[in-house]
Amino acid sequence: MVDKNFRYGDAKTDTFGSDAMLQPSPVEKIPDGPTTPEIAYQMVKDETFAQTQPRLNLATFVTTYMDDYATKLMNEAININYIDETEYPRVAVINGKCINIVANLWNSPEQSKWKTGAVAIGSSEACMLGGIAAWIRWRERRQKEGKPFDKPNFVISTGYQIVWEKFAQLWQIEMRTVPLTLEKTTLDPEAAIKLCDENTICVVPIQGVTWTGLNDDVEALDAALDAYNAKTGYDIPIHVDAASGGFILPFLNPEKKWDFRLKWVLSISTSGHKFGLVYPGLGWVVWKDKQYLPDVMSFSVNYLGAEIRQVGLNFSRPAAQILGQYYQFIRLGFEGYKNVQYNSLSVCKYIHEQIATRAPFVNYSPDVPNPLFAWLMK
Ligand SMILES: Cc1ncc(COP(=O)(O)O)c(C=O)c1O
Repeated sequence: MVDKNFRYGDAKTDTFGSDAMLQPSPVEKIPDGPTTPEIAYQMVKDETFAQTQPRLNLATFVTTYMDDYATKLMNEAININYIDETEYPRVAVINGKCINIVANLWNSPEQSKWKTGAVAIGSSEACMLGGIAAWIRWRERRQKEGKPFDKPNFVISTGYQIVWEKFAQLWQIEMRTVPLTLEKTTLDPEAAIKLCDENTICVVPIQGVTWTGLNDDVEALDAALDAYNAKTGYDIPIHVDAASGGFILPFLNPEKKWDFRLKWVLSISTSGHKFGLVYPGLGWVVWKDKQYLPDVMSFSVNYLGAEIRQVGLNFSRPAAQILGQYYQFIRLGFEGYKNVQYNSLSVCKYIHEQIATRAPFVNYSPDVPNPLFAWLMK
């Protein structure tokens, strides 16, 4: 069917009155010819319209609101490839500043001007990088000692997010899990230690368990590991998966030790796009010190004009999220983040309280350390 009005650029016909709107949207083959941008836009928009109201999505796990200036800044950076540090060196500097700020929120002891960390597309990539670093450090130590390094494992609770299953499958690292129960709602440090041996690359406590919103007790785990490492001569470290908690604890519970203040916590990951308050996808991973990021994880490329050292599974990515994160740090400051997190947690606690008064329901836990909780039918 010929859509004359649009073919000849005379847009007298309304988009919804055009012949093209009667054609089915392509499923298998690219259409033979072009259509106008108005129609293409409307077709894509309408196909997703009913479902793309993220502010109505209470289980999205990512940021659904940023102010107009943040949105403008991010839209303006949507076509900037972050990785091209030669062309956009200030973006790289801003990335470094974000890593510094995140590292300092987590009490990094690293003295250098630029802290050791990496931007990621989300917590998944950030967790992978933390896990891989632990694996390589373990492998290098075993190699040096002339010991076998073909059976690595890591320990985590059954409340793990799917990324840890991917980590285990893709890198062939055995995942040993400590069960969560209604009695033991978070990772039991002693049970975790029982699963450790000379092949354990790390233990992974979670701050803001995806399914329950609870925090594993990293301080108790650190103490238990310290005793175990002293007894066995092993060096089993901790990677904290702080996807949600990484941006809650520093603001609402700064006294609580779960971060680099603890001896065996060598790396931490979080989602900038969760309580970091930036649109998806953004994650951060930080190491306690440069020595804990194996050299083999930094890759060098020079085809973009200069030598670039890069840590990450991904390569090209938009600069928008990095600028959005930096904007939020400047815009909100510590106080502003604290206010937002406090309000989110207060709303969450109110709902938690109300749910408890409803006859069929019972809360999974009386604690609400993060703006996230689970309840069940009695
Ligand atoms: C504890 C935990 N780890 C990792 C992830 C993966 O995060 P992302 O979606 O940012 O990749 C999530 C996401 O919900 C999570 O809750």
